[in-house]
Amino acid sequence: MKKIIAFTGSTNPDSIHEKLVQSIIKEFDNQAFDFIDLKSFDIPIYSQKIEAEGIPQAVKKLYQRFISADGFLIASPEHNGLPTALFKNTIDWLSRIDQRVFGEKPVLLLSTSPGSTGGKTQLQILENLIPRWGGHLIGLYSLGNFLENFDEENLTLKNPSEKIKLGKAIEALINDAPFNKKNNAMVVQEYFTAFQNGDVEGVINSFHSDCYIVSVKEEERPKEQLHGIYRTRKEAKQFVKNIHNLFNTKDFAIERIIAVEDNLVIANGTFSHEVKATGKLFNSTWVQYCTIVGEKIKEYRFYEDSAAFVEAFKH
Ligand SMILES: Cc1cc2nc3c(=O)[nH]c(=O)nc-3n(C[C@H](O)[C@H](O)[C@H](O)COP(=O)(O)O)c2cc1C
Repeated sequence: MKKIIAFTGSTNPDSIHEKLVQSIIKEFDNQAFDFIDLKSFDIPIYSQKIEAEGIPQAVKKLYQRFISADGFLIASPEHNGLPTALFKNTIDWLSRIDQRVFGEKPVLLLSTSPGSTGGKTQLQILENLIPRWGGHLIGLYSLGNFLENFDEENLTLKNPSEKIKLGKAIEALINDAPFNKKNNAMVVQEYFTAFQNGDVEGVINSFHSDCYIVSVKEEERPKEQLHGIYRTRKEAKQFVKNIHNLFNTKDFAIERIIAVEDNLVIANGTFSHEVKATGKLFNSTWVQYCTIVGEKIKEYRFYEDSAAFVEAFKH
């Protein structure tokens, strides 16, 4: 029998997140869930001074519960666009025992709010952090307009379509099967779609915040030179800018996108760029290697016909 630890990041004694979690426990096999009331652990705000005196017993006790789990159901309220202080503090303390807090186990993130957004902003932040904390993200579920969608008296979701969505998410958690994750080839396809639509923000957002981009040559480059290495999403912006500064793209065709192994996606095709400086066409085949981490392009390598590139720039 699987044991899934369920907790909220709320300090509210009348927490709507706790109600949502309790409704899940009631609806599903309640033997599978072990509800932890984080606030009852009374863990102090992290401080090096306290840690120097020894990690508090309450943190050690919580850690023991965590390592006994097969998965985690986390319902985190959003405070000012972020997860709550209680949630963050708990992660901070646990990470002092083991940085991979969730021990390579599945994690489902939920959030709700009385407003329409349902705490989505912080879910998007947590989405990128859960893998860093050793969690295998199963998916995200957010419920907006809690008061309209939830029957507090009977602890149940009133909205039938939300009930189905949440049910699928919980089953995916129990079966350790991601339900709303993009596959790696889709991540690359979305990158190309953004590029082809001139959606610069979409292109930049396809990259991991800590990405490594090699445009033809794996060497350092002056800022405005196209070929060379770019690091981080900030420089990815420069990469896109450099392409737009040099070329008017006449055609960009994708022949195939193949997910090769665990996180590698290879694509190839052809393009025809008009060089702005000379008016000549730069026609080339291309091949692209991407490694995907957390549904983002972490490493990106793009190769094209560099001899044709030089030719097209000659006046
Ligand atoms: C300090 C504070 C900041 C908040 N910030 C946000 C926010 O950024 N976005 C949001 O959707 N709701 C925000 N809320 C409303 C919370 O979503 C709402 O209080 C929460 O869902 C209640 O959950 P709980 O009863 O489980 O604690 C905020 C509430 C507080 C008290």
